[in-house]
Amino acid sequence: MNVDGKHFRTVWMEAGTVRMINQPLLPHRFEIVDLPSYQHTAVSIRDMTVRGAGAIGATAGFAMAQAALAARDQRFHADMAEAAAVIEATRPTAQNLFYATRRVLRAIQAQGSDVPRAREAAVATAHEIADDDAACCEAIGSHGEPLIPQGARISTHCNAGWLAFVDWGSAISPIYAAHRAGKEPFVWVDETKPRGQGARLTAWELLQEGVPHAVICDNATGHYMKSGQIDMVIVGSDRIAANGDVANKIGTYSSAVVAKANGIPFYVAAPTTTIDPDCPHGDQIPIEERDQDEVRCTWGWTDEGQFTRVRTTPEGSPARNPAFDVTPAEYIAGIITEKGVVPASAQGIASVARTG
Ligand code: MRU
Repeated sequence: MNVDGKHFRTVWMEAGTVRMINQPLLPHRFEIVDLPSYQHTAVSIRDMTVRGAGAIGATAGFAMAQAALAARDQRFHADMAEAAAVIEATRPTAQNLFYATRRVLRAIQAQGSDVPRAREAAVATAHEIADDDAACCEAIGSHGEPLIPQGARISTHCNAGWLAFVDWGSAISPIYAAHRAGKEPFVWVDETKPRGQGARLTAWELLQEGVPHAVICDNATGHYMKSGQIDMVIVGSDRIAANGDVANKIGTYSSAVVAKANGIPFYVAAPTTTIDPDCPHGDQIPIEERDQDEVRCTWGWTDEGQFTRVRTTPEGSPARNPAFDVTPAEYIAGIITEKGVVPASAQGIASVARTG
């Protein structure tokens, strides 16, 4: 994607250093962060310097490659198992993270005791994971674009655009394709409290691409659905269960229920790397609970140019902060994958799920 005319990916690796866009600083500042070791890279996933299912997956793959470059010859496989455990402990809901660590581990194991070749395989596999992610998202755009009518007013939640992946995005990729095809889509971008991925990131991306949109507060979505100003919904996903239930950013479930009540089609867009074939039902998807201060406080820039945190709740009030919720398959009109649009059902999921 282009930032002021220059093409960027969300995350990449150069000579053993992981480089990524520093997402918490957006939209006010565009900065690239350099991470020299897998431990630094794991922290960047946990603290959400990088976030979004596909971007987390690619970052996890690169972290595994960094671990392979640093692992000791005599303890190579033990060091890699330890690194995988550290990386997997960062964000429990994002299926792409586990997909990536396990794909790199399989590539390493295939080299047996040949450590130099295992290192090479880890690095090559990490780059493949990132390239696959970008290619899948581009294909999601092609498959999703025909679902979008001319002039459609589309609601989305959180950020499932290119910042949530290596490039293109999932939910926003069909919107970019429709925009480029001259269909003039309009996007309702909800803020997505507490971290504001909609207001900060989706709005910024759409602005970069020149896609007309408006930011609304989270609790306005139902009003616009009921008053006939939303034609369809497209959201992303962090994990899809084998029965078609979908985990996505907290608030997705409410949007899906209100969409159904108003006869509005509700689509989920995700690469098949987000499917967890070992998770039979949405109730079994682990839901990450983040620090309560993300709800109690907010970050912003002072007039003096300092990035600072202020508290908005009473000091004594505790908060709860589930990062995701689960939308049952019955609310979903279809799942847009890189292989095509499938029903949110066990059969639909099985028709596109990866085996390895
Ligand atoms: O907590 P995040 O920002 O990593 O959450 C991910 C998301 O942005 C959304 O849930 C998104 O819709 C799916 S990830 C592409």
